Amino acid sequence: MFEKPGRPLTIAIDGPAASGKGTLARQIAAAYGLRHLDTGLTYRAVAKALIDAGAALEDVAAAERAAAVVDLGSLDRAVLSNHVIGEAASRIAVMPGVRRALVEAQRRFAQSGEGAVLDGRDIGTVVLRDAAVKLYVTASPQARAARRHAEIAAAGGPETLADVLADIERRDARDMGRADSPLKPAPDAHLLDTSELDIQAAFRAACGLIEQASSDRERM
Ligand code: C5P
Repeated sequence: MFEKPGRPLTIAIDGPAASGKGTLARQIAAAYGLRHLDTGLTYRAVAKALIDAGAALEDVAAAERAAAVVDLGSLDRAVLSNHVIGEAASRIAVMPGVRRALVEAQRRFAQSGEGAVLDGRDIGTVVLRDAAVKLYVTASPQARAARRHAEIAAAGGPETLADVLADIERRDARDMGRADSPLKPAPDAHLLDTSELDIQAAFRAACGLIEQASSDRERM
């Protein structure tokens, strides 16, 4: 659908839970023929390993051991997507040793091919500080909760809208308030507020920013 630029293209997409960044990242990767890594799945895989082993989520040594052996090739979204694992992931994501190991694996992924799209919380600020394009995708907590609740309800989940909103606000507070790599826009990130945008409009806006950045790079 789009011309592939001459040089490897790395695209960093950050934002809070249920902002739409994951869908956007997948669509962008498909449109530009780039590989995609949802880095949230790497934190979720560590959390699931601890839960499966019956270890406490405060067990830093166990979490670091699990992070050291996460296999990026076998991250299964269907298995890792449930909300108990998401909540647990945000608890182990405050541990600097866990972050160091996962960031290293994520950088190896980004640098091992012809460019990639990574989405997460610290891609533009830490993992790929020199990404060609940085997007910070956000939406109001109410808009994000409504979207997430509709997905959960469609799958037959029992949580109320109020439960989902409380969950999102708790996760935002933890992700934005942690000392190591808190969620925030990189100074050179383009902000994309999807509260009032549907996914097609957000995708078109993102493509405009990427085309612009690619042509700027071509001229450099
Ligand atoms: O994006 P997702 O909801 O799958 O991420 C789960 C948790 O993993 C987040 O709430 C966050 O605490 C952590 N995470 C992170 N850095 C990333 C990606 C995810 O700290 N790059």
